[in-house]
Amino acid sequence: AKKVIYDTDPGVDDAMALIFLDAAPDVELVGITTVLGNHRIDTTTRNALFLKDYFNIAAPVAQGAGKPLVIDEGEPPVYVHGSNGLGDIPLPDIIRSKPHELPAHRFIIETVRANPHEISIVAVGRMTNLALALREDPEIAALVKEIVIMGGAFGYRGHGGNVTPVAEANIIGDPHAADEIFAASWPIVVVGLDVTQEAVVSLTYLEQLRDTAGRAGQFIWDISRFYENFYFQSTGLPGFPVHDSSAVGYLLDPTLFTTRAGPIRVVTEGIAIGQTIQMPNNRSFPPGNAWEGRPDHLVCIDSDPERFLKLYFDT
Ligand code: BDR
Ligand code: CA
Repeated sequence: AKKVIYDTDPGVDDAMALIFLDAAPDVELVGITTVLGNHRIDTTTRNALFLKDYFNIAAPVAQGAGKPLVIDEGEPPVYVHGSNGLGDIPLPDIIRSKPHELPAHRFIIETVRANPHEISIVAVGRMTNLALALREDPEIAALVKEIVIMGGAFGYRGHGGNVTPVAEANIIGDPHAADEIFAASWPIVVVGLDVTQEAVVSLTYLEQLRDTAGRAGQFIWDISRFYENFYFQSTGLPGFPVHDSSAVGYLLDPTLFTTRAGPIRVVTEGIAIGQTIQMPNNRSFPPGNAWEGRPDHLVCIDSDPERFLKLYFDT
């Protein structure tokens, strides 16, 4: 089984992806690390602990960064994920599980060091914990098996950003962290809005999940009412993209996606802050450009959404 650390900011789609990971037969979830994003860090951690209890997940929850590396924290997007970050479903006052004693970035370092070349990290929030881990122990780059990231918008399929015309939420939420992790030579695959925008669940799909997938199906239905309404208000279309689950989809079956390799930069200031740009192929740019000397990383440029949504449903 693949040993996985899930780095997350739950978040409705984060919760849906955790349920997917937890149900996947070939996955051993070894840790859940939290980061700010869809809500402040105390709330995303509370939500992760709640999910751990509700679904009897054995993996510990380690609390991570409450602030981005450089920019301000910003206000949580309660209009997307609800004021409790889980679509405003009622949550218990007391959560049984407690966070791990290590902060998330230390938990990542120690887990990777204890399991060299075995840990896959699925990162679906801001990249702050990964950047802190890399700063503290750059050698982990050579010891991680793979990192699958939900983040970015590269313009390969005509979808723009979701926070600005060019920026996606997980990247603009800590652009410096993202740029640092793309600067490192470790095996990164980026599952960005280019493909996640195309994996949209319909109302019929959600109703079928609710009616056939037991407790998990009902839970997904309940937490997604608020989120679905947000997407309907903003796009006029029913259904919504399941962003973070697409990264889990890549982990489970990379043949669902087409990728291309090339160095990536993140814009860290100005009106295009948060934009992700992969060096195009077959072009010779003047020496000294911002991509020079940077390692290649894979970016998803196409996918098979039907097959992916079937995998989610079946799992
Ligand atoms: C990403 O931002 C968050 O709101 C979602 O959970 C997802 O990780 C989509 O841009
Ligand atoms: Ca997320």
